[in-house]
Amino acid sequence: MSEPGGKIVATLVVRGLRQCLTMTGEVAGPQRGGDQENVGLVEDAAVAVAGEDIVYAGPASGVLSSVRVAADAVSLDADGGVLLPGFVDPHTHVLFGGWRPGEFAQRIAGDSYRDILQAGGGILSTVDATCACSEEELVEIGTRRLRRMLSTGTTTVEAKSGYGLSAADEAKLVRAARRLAATEATDVVVTLLAAHAMPPEYRENRAGYLSQVEEMIVALADRIDFVDAFCEDGAFSVPECRRVFAAAARAGCGIKVHADQLGDTGGAALAGEVSAVSADHLDYISTAGIAALAGAGVVAVLLPSVPLYLMSRRQAPARRLQAAGVPIALGTDFNPGTSAVESMGLIVALACTLLGMTPEAALVAATTNAAHAIGQGDVVGRLEPGMRADLQVYSTCDYRMLPYRFGQLRPRWVIKRGRLVAGEDVDAAAVPRT
Ligand code: NIG
Ligand code: FE
Repeated sequence: MSEPGGKIVATLVVRGLRQCLTMTGEVAGPQRGGDQENVGLVEDAAVAVAGEDIVYAGPASGVLSSVRVAADAVSLDADGGVLLPGFVDPHTHVLFGGWRPGEFAQRIAGDSYRDILQAGGGILSTVDATCACSEEELVEIGTRRLRRMLSTGTTTVEAKSGYGLSAADEAKLVRAARRLAATEATDVVVTLLAAHAMPPEYRENRAGYLSQVEEMIVALADRIDFVDAFCEDGAFSVPECRRVFAAAARAGCGIKVHADQLGDTGGAALAGEVSAVSADHLDYISTAGIAALAGAGVVAVLLPSVPLYLMSRRQAPARRLQAAGVPIALGTDFNPGTSAVESMGLIVALACTLLGMTPEAALVAATTNAAHAIGQGDVVGRLEPGMRADLQVYSTCDYRMLPYRFGQLRPRWVIKRGRLVAGEDVDAAAVPRT
């Protein structure tokens, strides 16, 4: 709302910020190379919001010349704290039944992830547990998880299906994700990952399952944002994934790829070939794969908790990717097998210590580049007038404290679409979620 004098009327203001990370760089779009080092730091800052959108993010001295603060506005004094955009988690398998602590112990004892999957455990055991859940139960489970994630600063989440592996159960997962998108404060982007594992009954008829996947894409196209496939030995081959992605393109869906996670299977090259929005994992990406991503402008979504969970020392070559001009995003890959991690703050810390990313590059990766990895880069991830007011505020004096304190700092306040939704003085149960 703006008033006759032309000033916009702010409904929420955060003052007293020692640091504000606007993530606004020199160039539009996902940040790459040296630009990924720029967090758009403003010292002694203020942020103002009108309704759901940012109207001001800059020096505290300039806020009142830009906006008038409504008498009943929410006014927060950060007391020398740090504000940044809400985290965007661009890769999760948040909807699943059951956990797999036994496999965690098995891997410590020496079993590999592939051995466990081939023996019918792994993804397939979660498929059984997930198919046993009703849609209602999945919504309840997802609600609890999204709220925990929100309290750690994650305001937008990508949710994959993939633990159904039949038309009925994949559709159930997509419906549950859509319900969460409609009812929770968190924004949810939905990805169909029907090509996650081969259902045992199709082992001798792989083409038959791929036809099923094509039908699912057509049937669910208006309820999904992306189609993903697990491109890996032991999952789906490059030609099989190419078939899935051709169906995605025909249906007008964006494409994401689980690529080069356990070996160099050519998944990154395929991501370049099909102009995927993102290629994810990449622990075994080849030099040719890096060139393919750079050439096609694909965002690399790195998931450093996964090799750590799998007790592998092989991490994605983040510095080589950055040097080659590939924009890097970070995600939790939250799932019961390879990353039971919900906190993006922890992932930022792991990106610094395991991938050698700077705190600046890691924070850009967890906000604006993560938003671009799910097609939301023009809406969230940066603090600019007109962008959605998804903010997190920390009681700390220096943004580098986030990775340095290893993801243990909790935001003092989380603001979603201009409303205080988690943190101090917020009764989570009372937050209306329309
Ligand atoms: O991203 N790689 C495939 N999918 C998941 C693991 C899923 C599971 O083990 O349940 C991943 O790591
Ligand atoms: Fe994954």
